[in-house]
Amino acid sequence: MIKKLIIFKSVDQLAAFFTDDLAAKINETPDGRFFSWALSGGSTPKVLFQYLAQNFRKKISWEKVLVFWSDERCVAPDDQQSNYRMTKESLLNYVPIPAANIFRIKGEADPSEESERYSEAVMQIVPSFNNIPRFDFMMLGLGEDGHTASIFPGNLHLFDSKHLFEVAEHPQTKQKRITATGNLINHSATVAFLVTGEAKSEIAYHVLGHQLGSEKLPAAQIFPNNGELLWLMDEKAAGKILDLRSLNIYPEQNILEQTYLKTQ
Ligand code: 6PG
Repeated sequence: MIKKLIIFKSVDQLAAFFTDDLAAKINETPDGRFFSWALSGGSTPKVLFQYLAQNFRKKISWEKVLVFWSDERCVAPDDQQSNYRMTKESLLNYVPIPAANIFRIKGEADPSEESERYSEAVMQIVPSFNNIPRFDFMMLGLGEDGHTASIFPGNLHLFDSKHLFEVAEHPQTKQKRITATGNLINHSATVAFLVTGEAKSEIAYHVLGHQLGSEKLPAAQIFPNNGELLWLMDEKAAGKILDLRSLNIYPEQNILEQTYLKTQ
């Protein structure tokens, strides 16, 4: 597994890197094959979607893309909290992905029935590797409590679940969520954490610095078995990490610092 931590001077630079990397991966998809992309909710993904919509409408072979979600809130698709609504308003309304290639998690449905339905849909549509569907690209955010997708601390059983998607619950709001499970996430070809802003510097340091107790955090359990793990951060979110000189941080041109974490 390749692990790469790249720290950018700004969110714009992160967005430029992310979108170039994603575009290259999509456009390299052989004819006749699809690129399966699992999207995340959150403020950083929203910025990246807007950047894609503004700059990559004609630079990506969008007809090759199959869109899924790594998690969804159990709300209607037009609800302010819907990840689908956010993605539609920031990206899907502006790029020519055929509607048939967009696989929405139905937040308005019964959560347990929908988690089963969606698991079955992913099983049928996303090509498997060792009998588990393998997304080409899985986007993830990082919560300040160390959650990712909708796997919250204290719910590590969602990592070992034999199901592809499960029903989760937000610890504070008790809002039901449908989330990809850890095994599915860790089966992806590429997993990209997108982490920006000062508010994430503590948790990012905790997770990436392998601080005491971090092993209990969902985000610290993300290690794609035979894939690529990217941590893309701006320098505000990496504020504490820059102190971890032991990570052999190398100065790079447009990138503030590029750190190759140990390959496992
Ligand atoms: C969601 C996301 C969630 C998000 C993190 C970070 O549905 O909210 O899947 O995991 O990515 O909470 O969100 P921010 O980037 O907005 O801090």
